[in-house]
Amino acid sequence: MKFKKNILCIGAGYVGGPSMAMIAYKCPDYRVTVVDINSARIDAWNSTELPVYEPGLDAIIKKTRGKNLFFAKDIENQIKENDIIFVSVNTPTKTFGAGAGQASDLQFLEKTARQILEHSQSPKIVIEKSTLPVKTALAMERILASAKGKITFEVLSNPEFMAEGTAMTNLEKPDRVLIGSRETESGLKARAQLVDIYARWVPAEKIITSNIWSAELSKLVANAFLAQRVSSINSISALCEKTDADISEVAKAVGMDGRIGSKFLKAGIGFGGSCFKKDILNLVYLCSYYGLQDVADYWESVVKINEYQQDRFLANILGSMFNTLAGKKICVLGFSFKADTGDTRESPAIYITRKLLAEHAQVVISDPKALKNAAIDLASDKGKISYVEDPYSAASGCHALAILTDWELYRKLDFQKIYKSMVKPAFIFDGRNIIDHKKCFDIGFNVYPIGKPALSRFEDQSSF
Ligand code: NAD
Ligand code: UGA
Repeated sequence: MKFKKNILCIGAGYVGGPSMAMIAYKCPDYRVTVVDINSARIDAWNSTELPVYEPGLDAIIKKTRGKNLFFAKDIENQIKENDIIFVSVNTPTKTFGAGAGQASDLQFLEKTARQILEHSQSPKIVIEKSTLPVKTALAMERILASAKGKITFEVLSNPEFMAEGTAMTNLEKPDRVLIGSRETESGLKARAQLVDIYARWVPAEKIITSNIWSAELSKLVANAFLAQRVSSINSISALCEKTDADISEVAKAVGMDGRIGSKFLKAGIGFGGSCFKKDILNLVYLCSYYGLQDVADYWESVVKINEYQQDRFLANILGSMFNTLAGKKICVLGFSFKADTGDTRESPAIYITRKLLAEHAQVVISDPKALKNAAIDLASDKGKISYVEDPYSAASGCHALAILTDWELYRKLDFQKIYKSMVKPAFIFDGRNIIDHKKCFDIGFNVYPIGKPALSRFEDQSSF
């Protein structure tokens, strides 16, 4: 079959796989190929056990894979054959050299640019889908401009705003699609080609275009604003715990102001995920780089409050359990960084588990999707942790439950049954405020939510 367009995506990760599956699904007359240097990942995309768990993804892959969606390993050949190339490689925080701990590590992006340069035999539109520091397109253009002969490249920025766990709905019905380009004749022409792809299913008013730098920067700023809301509500949760105010009531009252809005005001143990921290730190680095230290400090405080919230949660566990966890069994309910994903990158559960182990607690981890990743994250602590998928078996014989992920299934647990199987006094630390606290207290638990008065049988918490 002859396809109208041939689209390639370099990087078959959490973004590359789902976003290209959606393009293939919505555009059956386009051929979409996804490549990766990680050949095991490509094998997984071609198997029945996809490397990424996302509600709705399996169904779309079944409808498209082998028809107009292909996962392949021959990167060089695919670069030759495709005219539109998305780049969706990882851009982690740099761990070495200048900017270590803040700046983006752009080595994977640069390697991709050089691969495109080396193997292209015809003009290409190269689209940044990875999240990048503003002005990265300039580096990309400079590398590609060194092409010999007449091959031309147009670089666009089309950042991805999907969230994990809801990726397929976000991709199908995005709040907006942002496309940045150079405002030259060829830039605008390339921009129009990409608009045409999204216009197949996204309403025209939701496809917005901008200059290329605005597009790159908007992505970092969107993540920074979202994370800032989480840190704002978490900071207030600390004040609620001191004043008997209830964070859910405060969030509701504040969020009903149309100017503020109710989303992203759930207090918890802090944000995790592969992007919020890295993107804010990248913003902080950029601001410092451009000499805007006050602006850098402002955004850095969002990350600091996130760390503070996790430490507060741990201090609460330790203080409430008579200042010693040594030898006590703690059941961690939920390890992924949020519900509906098996992803554990930067999950607060990693930090919290390590701190529990440092107190010589015995940790049992339960999660419906993330146990495999949890065991990888905590490989250096092998032997000190048990992994038990069934929450009832996991909780049995434990002194405390620490709810770290907002999985729906935890709301519906039979806490009466769990209470019976635990060591008394039994504790629940609800790091996501998802269970019925009063009901659990009435069963017999001592219950410690976030940003709400504790329901405890021990009046004085400060006996030490
Ligand atoms: P990921 O690590 O899951 O996937 C990136 C993939 O790129 C990996 O499989 C890696 O092997 C591959 N890769 C690296 N260099 C390559 C090369 N030279 N050739 C071929 N493949 C190569 O990362 P991700 O979560 O998909 O994120 C990708 C980008 O998208 C990041 O910049 C991230 O900030 C951004 N982003 C992520 C999300 C999300 O929800 N995960 C959402 C929006 C934006
Ligand atoms: C986030 C953004 O929401 C996406 O728009 C963006 O594309 C993506 O980052 C990215 O660039 O990678 P994601 O990290 O998948 O998506 O998940 P979110 O739903 O944003 O949650 C992030 C973290 O914040 C989670 O740990 C979540 O539990 C926490 N959170 C979120 C709260 O603690 N409270 C809230 O009210 C909302």
